[in-house]
Amino acid sequence: MRVSVIGCGHLGAPHAAAMAELGHEVIGVELDPETCKILQTGRGHFYEKGLDELLATYVPTGRLRFTTSLEEAADFADLHFIAVGTPLRADGRGYDVGQVVGAVRSLAPLLTRPATIVGKSTVTVGTVARLQEILTEHAAAGANLVWNPEFLREGHAVEDSLYPDRIVAGLTSPEAEKAIREVYAPILARDGVELIVTDPATAEVLKSAANTFLATKISFINAMAEVCEIAGADVSTVAYGIGLDPRIGHGGM
Ligand SMILES: NC(=O)c1ccc[n+]([C@@H]2O[C@H](COP(=O)([O-])OP(=O)(O)OC[C@H]3O[C@@H](n4cnc5c(N)ncnc54)[C@H](O)[C@@H]3O)[C@@H](O)[C@H]2O)c1
Repeated sequence: MRVSVIGCGHLGAPHAAAMAELGHEVIGVELDPETCKILQTGRGHFYEKGLDELLATYVPTGRLRFTTSLEEAADFADLHFIAVGTPLRADGRGYDVGQVVGAVRSLAPLLTRPATIVGKSTVTVGTVARLQEILTEHAAAGANLVWNPEFLREGHAVEDSLYPDRIVAGLTSPEAEKAIREVYAPILARDGVELIVTDPATAEVLKSAANTFLATKISFINAMAEVCEIAGADVSTVAYGIGLDPRIGHGGM
């Protein structure tokens, strides 16, 4: 498939490289010219295990290229991943989704044929409905929106993009499922990778619930560390011991 990845930061650059590895023709759009220039040379602008190797393999062949031009991506691709940043809002009440809204608003009128827009950024619940309104108003050529949150671990972005434990697709229309199944086909062909097809609100809340649960786990073991200090106990052994229960697990502690 011909795909674009809009926003080539810590999520987008590894995702673009992983899509090339899956066999797609990929164009990465990065607003920052300096970052884009580095990616065009076939290297990452930050260290991520396996990223430089994939960039060095696919950039010289042309299967993966980078641009600052959204027009070029709109012309080239039939499926567009949105991977721009969503920093926490200053008041702490959710994410600043300005980059996501900006990217979708800019892309919509540039589409010259029906396309699938696949959002990967972490957003405040309710954002997809807002983006759908933008697309309905500004994407005259037609666009199917899907919310496909990313669960990768920092430092394992390439590995987790290629070998995710699940793929979540919050569909705004049933037709978009075909595009999601096609773009992730090599991953879905593997045993044990589940595609959770749902509605956009469920996909948004699922991602938010996963983040909150993982944060709770860290807060819990930090509290246990304080208990251990008072009791003269070893928190590593406590974490290991409780983690052997599969309902608790070892991840994230
Ligand atoms: N980094 C992670 O480990 C991780 C894991 C899971 C989910 N996420 C989510 O992924 C999203 C991206 O995170 P990140 O860490 O990659 O952020 P980042 O700040 O590293 O990268 C975002 C990039 O998007 C670019 N950008 C912004 N607007 C653009 C536009 N209109 N067109 C093209 N490029 C544009 C920026 O210049 C920047 O390089 C966030 O929502 C984040 O919560 C990140």
